[in-house]
Amino acid sequence: MDYEKLGVFYLGRPYDPAANAANERAGYLLLKSKELTTHAVCVGMTGSGKTGLCVGLLEEAAMDGVPAIVIDPKGDMANLMLSFPDLSAEDFQPWIDTDAARKAGQSPDVFAAGEAAKWEKGLQAWGQDGQRIARMRQTTSFAVYTPGSTAGIPLSILQSFQAPPAAVRQDPELLQEQISGLTVSLLSLIGINADPIRSRESILVASLLQHYWQKGEDLDLARLIQLIQNPPLQQIGVMSLDTFYPEKDRMDLALRFNNLLASPGFSIWLQGDPLDIDQLLYTAEGKPRLSILSIAHLNEAERMFFVSLLLNKVVSWMRGQSGTSSLRALLYMDEIFGFFPPVANPPSKAPLLTLLKQARAYGLGVVLTTQNPVDLDYKGLANTGIWFIGRLQTERDKMRVLDGLEGATQLHGNTFNKAAMERLVSGLGNRVFLLHSVYQDEPVLFETRWCMSYLAGPLTRVQLQQLQQLQPEPVRQISEPVKAETKPHEAVEPQNIEVKPVSTASTGAGSGKPDTAPLLPQGVQAVYAPIRGRLEGLVYRPYLVGMVQIGYNDRKVGVYHSEDKVIYTPVTQGVFPVDWDQAQPLELALDYFEPEGSSGVPYVALPDIAGKPASYTLWKRDLADWAYRTCRLTLPQVPGTDLVAKPDEDERSFRLRAQQKTRERRDQETEKLRRSYATRIRALEEKIRKAEQAVERKKEQAKQQKMQTAISFGATLLSAFLGKKAVSASSLGKATTTVRGASRALKDSSEVGRSQESVEVYQAQLQELEEAFEAEAEALASRLDPLDQVLTEHVIQPYKKDIQVRDLIFAWMPGRELADGSWEQAWN
Ligand SMILES: Nc1ncnc2c1ncn2[C@@H]1O[C@H](COP(=O)(O)OP(=O)(O)OP(=O)(O)O)[C@@H](O)[C@H]1O
Ligand SMILES: [Mg+2]
Repeated sequence: MDYEKLGVFYLGRPYDPAANAANERAGYLLLKSKELTTHAVCVGMTGSGKTGLCVGLLEEAAMDGVPAIVIDPKGDMANLMLSFPDLSAEDFQPWIDTDAARKAGQSPDVFAAGEAAKWEKGLQAWGQDGQRIARMRQTTSFAVYTPGSTAGIPLSILQSFQAPPAAVRQDPELLQEQISGLTVSLLSLIGINADPIRSRESILVASLLQHYWQKGEDLDLARLIQLIQNPPLQQIGVMSLDTFYPEKDRMDLALRFNNLLASPGFSIWLQGDPLDIDQLLYTAEGKPRLSILSIAHLNEAERMFFVSLLLNKVVSWMRGQSGTSSLRALLYMDEIFGFFPPVANPPSKAPLLTLLKQARAYGLGVVLTTQNPVDLDYKGLANTGIWFIGRLQTERDKMRVLDGLEGATQLHGNTFNKAAMERLVSGLGNRVFLLHSVYQDEPVLFETRWCMSYLAGPLTRVQLQQLQQLQPEPVRQISEPVKAETKPHEAVEPQNIEVKPVSTASTGAGSGKPDTAPLLPQGVQAVYAPIRGRLEGLVYRPYLVGMVQIGYNDRKVGVYHSEDKVIYTPVTQGVFPVDWDQAQPLELALDYFEPEGSSGVPYVALPDIAGKPASYTLWKRDLADWAYRTCRLTLPQVPGTDLVAKPDEDERSFRLRAQQKTRERRDQETEKLRRSYATRIRALEEKIRKAEQAVERKKEQAKQQKMQTAISFGATLLSAFLGKKAVSASSLGKATTTVRGASRALKDSSEVGRSQESVEVYQAQLQELEEAFEAEAEALASRLDPLDQVLTEHVIQPYKKDIQVRDLIFAWMPGRELADGSWEQAWN
């Protein structure tokens, strides 16, 4: 049964401490992806399997098309690149530990074959295969970045002093946080561990950032160096700049930054893809990405600099997203030690705390890993809904974890049974974790599933380079921004206007056309298009300019868009003097029209009908009718859904938005499914229990040999899917023997047999229920991803009531009749 697309992450199997093994019958441990929006912490001693667990979790995200940014301070996470659908020895060979092969006395080929076989077997034991790996790689694109190095894809931080988006700038506290974060980490790069509030270096740099960012202007390091020498500020606080920080001293600071900029190592920071969160999370065509940011090669100051820059960018990115209740993306950090300490205040801490507090509303889940909970700030922990607790080194560590957990649990209003918890956490083996979730009544022990990725350990520089050939990302050109079929006109400025005074006699005379403008009915004002070029042979021709506002409203797809159209059409002598079907968009803004014509340019005669006021009312009505008949808004649509692009949305943004919407709906529907089945199952379960009791009673009466009967659902997935909270843990999953086996022995007594039959009837009903559930879940899961679909067009026709003629303007437009009878316009 396919649980892959139901928004649940397969992390492992419930673990039976008594049996000292994963309980296969108890099915899968599935975590609802949306619960990760309250973030997760993973604690355990070295070798306990934290990285393995989180690699598994990230693989599940990749399966579900949830993009992720993975910060990798230890070098283990690049292993996520090493997933091979064929599971062949050749695939594994470049990545094996050659020392281990030598120690084992094996050639690399033989050792690699052994590793490949081990992986295949490992996967098999956990119900996985190469096809699952292939699906993961199809859904999500993987990449390793190495900021400050060319081993992987380098990342440029040149653009990283970009002003934060308006959503951040308008929040003074957040802006301040970003400014001081960048200031402190910049200064630490040049070896100044500055107090952000007191040191003059940081006050100056922060003031400069503030000055430009507030205006939405970007900075880079070169510019910052200039600005330190010549700041645009005269005063800092109440002091003059030169008293506060004399020019000579500022020069010193500027020099230090300059040395940094000029150092050969730093130039690598300026190469590569820009550090842009959106690009890290999605390819150019909108496919989800898992971007691993490998920072193991950096020194401590550089790591801090990079991580805080990145986190601040994530905060900025997040604030620009719409709210959602489903998981949109993950931010994972493999070892949090030093970045989120309880007492000290490194620049990474503030943005991380902001993320833990706010990211939930935007569907961004933060997952942190540490060997020791002492490395985590308490305020951050309190915001964490999911805890994975693995094997711990010492009794003291254990008590610390339990204390932290107790605090977090109580903060979420749940009760905490410390003694029971302590029993569970004691003596855990590797790869066994206790999952404590605010969404579940009871904690669950589980063993982590085998990773699809080959856990080869930290990769060498050469291996990192080889990784890039492993998955070249397809670069497909993506289409232009989505535009409505009816383009809004852009006002174009008139060019080359050259009006020469010409005597009346030279043009108008003898042409038979009046020299003065024909009279218009009262209330109809005429305007004149500016003349372009020479005046010879010009005449003014009468036109009507219509301005109409069209509202395209479609409640079903949630489009409410209004558009102004300005079109013009000649007033002719024909049967239909004003024909809007012949109209053209007016590309010159009406502001450029003049109130008076050029003297000496004669006028084409007006049809009589243009002299009657009633005609204008009629033409207005014609214009509205024209708009109703011909104006349409055409927008891309995901077929079979009501997901339609917004009028100004480009295709990539639309596809990303559609994807998130689809995910939200799926999560809602899955939840509904879960609830409806949980109720029915609970009812059946109750009946079975009663019937079983009856069997037991009768059995006693019949003095038969005591036999154990229990319920077997075989519905291991169903039970995992419904979760502990939905169905009482006692019945589901504890299945031991089948009722049928027991029943045969009991058939001796007809009474027992009858009760037994009702157990079987219910049992069958349960089976049916399970099948129905699977069918429904299947239908839900088989929905297509909006990312892969060919979009169709959704056409919106305006309602009559939404069409409003704003104005009808009479305009004289200059032009000349050419020899072949065609018309050449002489205005822009
Ligand atoms: N899910 C898994 N599938 C396969 N092998 C695993 C899994 N989890 C752990 N292992 C094996 O156990 C070893 C240690 O696990 P892991 O690296 O996850 O520990 P850790 O808790 O992250 O340790 P550290 O704190 O030192 O980083 C791995 O190198 C791998 O060989
Ligand atoms: Mg690890």
